[in-house]
Amino acid sequence: TNRFAQFKLVLLGESAVGKSSIVHRFVKNTFDDLRESTIGAAFLTQTITFPETNTTIKFEIWDTAGQERYKSLAPMYYRNANAALCVYDITSRSSFNKAQDWIKELKRQAPEGIVIALVGNKSDLAEDRQVEADEVEEYIQQQTSEEDGNSRIITSECSAKSGEGVLEIFNSIGRALPVE
Ligand code: GTP
Ligand code: MG
Repeated sequence: TNRFAQFKLVLLGESAVGKSSIVHRFVKNTFDDLRESTIGAAFLTQTITFPETNTTIKFEIWDTAGQERYKSLAPMYYRNANAALCVYDITSRSSFNKAQDWIKELKRQAPEGIVIALVGNKSDLAEDRQVEADEVEEYIQQQTSEEDGNSRIITSECSAKSGEGVLEIFNSIGRALPVE
């Protein structure tokens, strides 16, 4: 038997962390060194098949604009989302703080049961790293204990540029989503 499900996924995070680049790597397997900053939001879709469970998942992806002036639009996109990628740039501490703010907002305002992934992009720039894996793990521990261990936040690093880790993130999210 083949099972099929579709889910809405939203990307949130500071401008220039690489949200659109992650989506383009996932959907088209391309990377652009001079990607233009997103205006409003962009919509793309991609499917993943999990042979071991005979399941196909279609992601309806809302790639939001990180610039401050678009911040008020975000609730429109996460309001009915099944999953959220909160993206930071591992070479930018401020972007990590911002990603934590998004997680806080999602926990207050997003649908219950939303699958959240905290994603550190630009792992190809590790020599300029400002955010260490240890402190991310510590933050996650703290978040998990605050809510009775119910919904663990997925964390991972990736590089939209090299492609490393990108598919793995969407695979993990797909596995965490409930398919009837
Ligand atoms: P907004 O649309 O303004 O919110 O930005 P965004 O988060 O969508 O960032 P975008 O994907 O436009 O990427 C911003 C810049 O970072 C672009 O110049 C990309 O080429 C670059 N970039 C994105 N991902 C990576 C990566 O993994 N490694 C490196 N080195 N650069 C990246
Ligand atoms: Mg963008």
